[in-house]
Parts: sequence; structure tokens; C-alpha cells
Amino acid sequence: MDSAIVMDNVCFKYPTFEIRNVSLTLGVGEQKVLVGLNGSGKTTLFRLILGLLRSTSGTIEVLGMPVVRENLWRIRQNVGFLFQNPSDQLFAPTVWEDVIFGPRNLGLSEDEVRQRVEWALDIVEMSDFVDHPVNKLSHGQAKRVALAGIIAMKPKVLLLDEPFTGLDFPMVESMVDIIDQLRAQGTSVMFTTHNRVFIENWADSLAIMDNGQLAYDGPVDEAFSQSELVSLMGDWSCLEKKMNGADCVTRVVRYG
Ligand SMILES: Nc1ncnc2c1ncn2[C@@H]1O[C@H](COP(=O)(O)OP(=O)(O)OP(=O)(O)O)[C@@H](O)[C@H]1O
Ligand SMILES: [Mg+2]
Repeated sequence: MDSAIVMDNVCFKYPTFEIRNVSLTLGVGEQKVLVGLNGSGKTTLFRLILGLLRSTSGTIEVLGMPVVRENLWRIRQNVGFLFQNPSDQLFAPTVWEDVIFGPRNLGLSEDEVRQRVEWALDIVEMSDFVDHPVNKLSHGQAKRVALAGIIAMKPKVLLLDEPFTGLDFPMVESMVDIIDQLRAQGTSVMFTTHNRVFIENWADSLAIMDNGQLAYDGPVDEAFSQSELVSLMGDWSCLEKKMNGADCVTRVVRYG
């Protein structure tokens, strides 16, 4: 098996939005960034891959398993999904209970489970919050706890929906390190972001959604050489020009 995820001609319909004929592959060990403007369908694709939504036609395979009801349990044991909004993800009363929930379902010894939870909470620097109610965490703290719950599972595939949004910079650095470590062990990763730093510097490949359709799936450099694709990602250079424009006062210096 060379592919972690294979989507073939996938369609899906919300009342006012459609995913149309998306075919996309994530290779084993590959790191792909999935981009597109707000509402282009990125989160919907992740939900389809996880079987949280059911496609109306086409097929999806995860780690060689078709995404159908009887495989969902095994697929979700092997795929870590970081939700865009961490409060959609955390449901146990306390941080400890939330992070331990996933690993407890893997059939490991209780010792191994505890070690994994301690390890994961240590990595995201939330060990001091084990008894904290999950609904009283800040946004960034909740995201860290959600990530701990995922890495404690040691998943083969990571789907990360805007993993860096709302995190302070040291935590972004730590998260990059964690994901790099997991990748070194062969984990396949697909993540969404609107931040060009990650798109240009940290992905093996790039997929671009445009209003429910896949506009591009290929090397990062090639996409940046095509202006129509750049505009589908959101053209940051316009913003840079606006901020540095001649008609825009950025600095006032007083002489004399
Ligand atoms: N539960 C839902 N019911 C109906 N329509 C929905 C639902 N969830 C999302 N949509 C619609 O589907 C479209 C795609 O939404 P989606 O969340 O996949 O976009 P996205 O690319 O992840 O956007 P963002 O960058 O804002 O996260 C949007 O038009 C949205 O309004
Ligand atoms: Mg989204």
C-alpha cells in the first residue's frame, strides 16, 4: 500500500454547497497542505475522509480500507483528526479523562495508556492541567489538549484542520516539532492553513479547493508560478503591497 488516503471522484451535497468529483491521493509518509478560501470545502473533505459525512458518489479509502460503516472504528483508531474548533472535539469532564479516552480504546495495558497520556500532555505542556475542566480552557489550551489526545493514539495518519490558528508562537514551534517527529516515524499528514509560511516551507505537496472542486493537486512551487492558483489561495502579495503602499503612512519621522 503506497497511499494513506485515496479519494476517487467523490461527490457530496449540503443544501447550498456541493463537493464535486474530488480525486486526491495522500501518499504514505507524505505531508500535504490543503488550501482554499473560506467555504471552499476543506473541512467538508476531512469529514468525508473520516466518515463523519457520507459521500453521495465516488469512493474513499483510508489505509487501504474503504470508508464504509463497518470500517469506521478501525479507521478512526488510525487517523488522528484535529478539529478546526477544539471545543467540538473535547467532551470529557477533565483534561486527563479527555486525553485518555482514545488510547484506552486501543487495547493497550493500563500502564502503557497512562505513559502515553503523560507523554502527550508533557509535549503540549499541559501536564499541570490534568484535573482542569475542559470547558474552562482557553482556545489555545483546548487546542493543545485536543492535540495531546491525538498524539497519544500514535496515529498512522493525521488530518489537522488549521492546527496553528490561535496558538502562541512557542506552541506553534512545538507543534511543528511534534508533527516532524511523527512524520519521521512514517505518519502521513494532511493539514489546512491560510498561512503562507507553512504552505511554502513545510509541505511536500499542495491541494487547492475552489468552491467544492479540486483546482490543483501537485508540487508547491508549480502552484505558486500560476497566478490563477495563487488567487485561489488568497494572494498575500496584494495585502503586502497595500500595507507598504505609497498612499499608506507606515512611519512618521520627526526631523529638527
Ligand atoms: N453542517 C452544514 N450544513 C450545511 N452547510 C454546511 C455545513 N457545514 C458547512 N457547510 C457549507 O459548506 C461549505 C464548505 O464549508 P467548509 O467548512 O468545508 O469550508 P472550509 O473550506 O473548511 O472553510 P474555512 O476556511 O472557513 O474553514 C460552506 O459554504 C458552508 O457554509
Ligand atoms: Mg474549515
